[in-house]
Amino acid sequence: MDLQEIRKKYLAYFEGNNHAVIPSASLVPENDPTTLFTGSGMQPLVPYLMGEKHPKGKRLTDSQKCFRSGDLEEVGDNRHTTFFEMLGNWSLGDYFKKEQLPWFFTFLTEELGFDPKRLYVTVFEGDEKLGIGSDEDSVAVWKDLFKGKGIDAEVAKIGSEENGGKRGMKEGERIFYYDVDKNWWSRAGAPEKMPSGEIGGPDSEVFYEFTDIEHDTKYGEHCHPNCDCGRFLEIGNSVFIQYIKNEDGSFSELPNKNVDFGGGLERLVMASTESPDIIQVCHAPIIDFLEKNSEKRYDESDEVKRAFRIIADHMKAAVFLITEGVHPSNTDQGYFVRRLIRRSVHFADVLGVHGEGFASVVEPVAEMYSDAYPALKKQYKETEAIITEEEKKFRATLAKGMKEFEKIDGKVVSGEKAFILFSTYGFPFEMTVELATEKGMTVDEEGFQEKMKEHQELSRAGSEQKFKGGLADSSETITALHTCTHLMLAGLRKYLGSEVHQAGSNITEERLRFDFTYPEKVERDILDKVEEYVNEALKEQCEVQTEVMKKDDARENGVEGSFWDRYPDEVTVYTVRCSDGTVLSQELCGGPHVKNTGDIIGTFKIKKESSSSAGVRRVKAVLE
Ligand code: ALA
Repeated sequence: MDLQEIRKKYLAYFEGNNHAVIPSASLVPENDPTTLFTGSGMQPLVPYLMGEKHPKGKRLTDSQKCFRSGDLEEVGDNRHTTFFEMLGNWSLGDYFKKEQLPWFFTFLTEELGFDPKRLYVTVFEGDEKLGIGSDEDSVAVWKDLFKGKGIDAEVAKIGSEENGGKRGMKEGERIFYYDVDKNWWSRAGAPEKMPSGEIGGPDSEVFYEFTDIEHDTKYGEHCHPNCDCGRFLEIGNSVFIQYIKNEDGSFSELPNKNVDFGGGLERLVMASTESPDIIQVCHAPIIDFLEKNSEKRYDESDEVKRAFRIIADHMKAAVFLITEGVHPSNTDQGYFVRRLIRRSVHFADVLGVHGEGFASVVEPVAEMYSDAYPALKKQYKETEAIITEEEKKFRATLAKGMKEFEKIDGKVVSGEKAFILFSTYGFPFEMTVELATEKGMTVDEEGFQEKMKEHQELSRAGSEQKFKGGLADSSETITALHTCTHLMLAGLRKYLGSEVHQAGSNITEERLRFDFTYPEKVERDILDKVEEYVNEALKEQCEVQTEVMKKDDARENGVEGSFWDRYPDEVTVYTVRCSDGTVLSQELCGGPHVKNTGDIIGTFKIKKESSSSAGVRRVKAVLE
C-alpha cells in the first residue's frame, strides 16, 4: 500500500468510529512564535487539548504535514526525513486507553493486514519522583489484544534505554516497560524538560519488526524495541495527555484526559511493503526522475544512494514549504528552504544531474500528492520558478566561492574559512568537506561550529536593535510587518466591528498574510481606511510597549486576542501607544515587534482581499 491508500484507509477507519476528519494545518504554525515549523500532529491542537471546545467535537482525525528541521543533517540514511505526515486521532476528553489501543491494533491487523507477530509495544514504567505509577492499564489491554490473536505476550521491564542494551529481550516478550526518556511525551520531551504550563503524559508505542534485519552490536550488546539498529521501527504512538506541569515542578491532572495519537504515515508504508528504506518507498517518483536525468542508479553505491536520498527528501520538503508561501531567504523558515534547495543542488551536481532539468523534479512531487494536496500541482510552475531562481543565485556565488577555495593552502581548512565559504558564498558545510577531501585536506569542524554559534548570537542581537536608518534587513522586515499586522487588525475592528478577530497569520519577508473572521467581502474603500489607519500610526511614531498582565484582567479590559487558552495565566500584551496617550492597538502576543512605529520603513498597502474559508476573509499586505 502506498501513501495515498494508507492515509485514506486510516481517515476512513476513524471516521467510521465517529471521528470528524479535519484538514492538515499549515507547516508554518500560525500565532505560535515559539517554533518555526509544525513538527507534530498535536501542535496545532494544543488549545483544544487544554480544554478549548473544538467546533468539530471531541473526536478528531487528520493527517498532519510535519517538518523537522532538526533532522536535516540526519537525512541520507534509510529512515530519516525532514518532511513527513503524521496520522492523528484525538480524544478531547472523550475516550481513553481502552478504546485507543484496540482501535490502533485493529487498524494495523485488520485494515492493513499486518501480522500481529511482527508487532511489539512499549508502555510507561512509572516514576516515583513524579508520583506517577506504571501504566498497568495499557499492559492489560495489550495482553488481551495479543491473546485475541493467539499470542501470549509476556511483559518485561527494560527501564532505561541503556539497560535495554544490557538486558535485551527474551523469547516470548512483547510488551516492554521503559522509563520517562522513552515512554513519556510532551512537546519539550521528558517531564524535567517541560516548562510550567506544558501538557503531556505517558505514552504507548507500537513497533514493527523487520525480520530480515539482524541486530548490529554497534548499537548495543542486545537488541530491543527502542534499539537503533533498524530491526524495529516505531509506527505509532498513543500519548495519554493527562497532565499539566505546575510552577513548582509537580504535575496536576488535566480536567480532561486526552488521547493524542501520532502515526508515521511513511513508516506505515514501509511496514506494509516490508521495506526498511523510506526513500525507496515514499519518494520513488523523485528517484525515477533523478535516475532518468543522470547516469546514476539509486543502488549503485552507498555514496550515490545518500545523494539520492538527500535530494529526494529535501526537494519534497521544499516543494511543500514553497507551496505554503515560504520562499528561500536568509532568515527564519526561509533559511531552511534555502538550505534544502542548495544542498539538493550540490548533491545533484555530485550525481551529475543535467543542470537544466533540476527544477522539473517539482512536477513528480506534485503529482504524487495531487489527491491529498492539490495546491502542489496547481502552483507547481511558480514553485519551479522559485527553485530555478534560487539555483541561479546559488551558482553565481558558488563560482566566486570556488576561487576563494582555491586560494586556501595547507592541509586544514580552518573553521573561519569554512564559515566564510558558508556565509558569504553559500557553501553547504558538507560541500566544503567534500572539496577538501578531494584535495587531501581536512576541515576544522569544531571551529566551524563555533563560528556558526557566534554568528547566530550576533544576528539575534541584531534583530533586537532598532533600525538606524538605512535599509532594514530581512528579519527586521518581518518584525515590522508583524507590528503592522496588529495595527491592521485594530483598523479592521474599528471599521468592520468588534466581531472581527484573527483566524490566522503568516508573515514572510515579502508580505503579511492575515485571516480574520468576517462573513462577507470587504470593500476597497474600507481597506483604504484601514491602510490609512496603519500609515497614520507609522507617521505618529507611537511607542510599542509590552507588559505582563493576568490573563483574566487582560480579557476583561478588552485586550484583543484569539486562542486565549493557549496562553498561561500571565500573558504578554503589546500596546501601540502614541505620545498623547491614544492607544492604537492592544493585543495578546509573543512578539517580536518594533519598539516604535516610526522604525517601520515604507508605506503600508493592502494588496489583496479574498475569501479564505466559510466566514473567514484573507488579506495580503506589504510595506512599499
Ligand atoms: N504527539 C506524539 C508524537 O509526536 C504522538 O509522537
